[in-house]
Amino acid sequence: MGLARELAITMAAEFVEVAYEKHPGGFPDGERYVRVMDALAGESVSVIATTHPDPKIVELLLLLDAVRDLRPRRLTLVIPYFGYGRQDKRFETGEALSARALARHLSEGVDEVLTMGLHDPDILKFFDAPAREVSGMPAVGRFLKTRDVDFLLAPDGGAVRHAKEAAVVSGKPWDALEKTRIDSYTVRYEPKRLDVRGRRVAIIDDLISTGGTVALAAKELRAQGAKHVLVAALHGLFVGNAWDKLAVCDEVASSDTIPSRATKFSVAPEFAGAIKSSRP
Ligand code: R5P
Repeated sequence: MGLARELAITMAAEFVEVAYEKHPGGFPDGERYVRVMDALAGESVSVIATTHPDPKIVELLLLLDAVRDLRPRRLTLVIPYFGYGRQDKRFETGEALSARALARHLSEGVDEVLTMGLHDPDILKFFDAPAREVSGMPAVGRFLKTRDVDFLLAPDGGAVRHAKEAAVVSGKPWDALEKTRIDSYTVRYEPKRLDVRGRRVAIIDDLISTGGTVALAAKELRAQGAKHVLVAALHGLFVGNAWDKLAVCDEVASSDTIPSRATKFSVAPEFAGAIKSSRP
């Protein structure tokens, strides 16, 4: 992925190619394939792999298996976007605790896990290796400096910790809305006056999935007189007709944890710093 190359450049580290198809077009039944194209014995290796969409999870499991067998000295797993984080609790009896299941399997035989913009930092305890959440807000702050923004908004309680940090990094005031999720596609806001009339506002969130959250927040901002609405999120999934919903925003930006047409800033410096800081 682009972030892995960017990270190698930032760290002046060797980038090892991985082949994901045994022959052009891959296996006829769609099964994934992985081959590491260089020796790793005795090296300090970082595997950078995101978990969306689902076939990437299979690729990552295969990649970790291949890398471990090549006997690196140290193996750091960087998961820029940790999927299944929103099923971090058992809401109904018998449900899989998806975040834990994924965390346990991915961290097997790994020395350290680094991830970003978790749905809830408590997920870190599910990993079977030391795990850290790296903040992506310095990257958001750098991006905001390239735009004319004078107010930040957290579109729900989960985004407050991100908006607060982005506000410190960018030196802008911030506020938050209180969201109730009705179902996977529908959210509702509690009425709240925001000091946004005539202002240029950036909505700060960890994740855009269906776009429902930020689209409704953007409508609320417009209704309260905001003159420009930008969205800066760490992870952009843009599921279904997300882009149609997001037409209410003046600009949508996300990081390179998941590459998309909205990718406008990189979190490579943040992960590079974290990898360097944990080297023994
Ligand atoms: C919620 O906890 C997250 O921070 C996001 O606000 C949410 O997951 C976004 O989902 P959607 O784009 O489907 O509203």
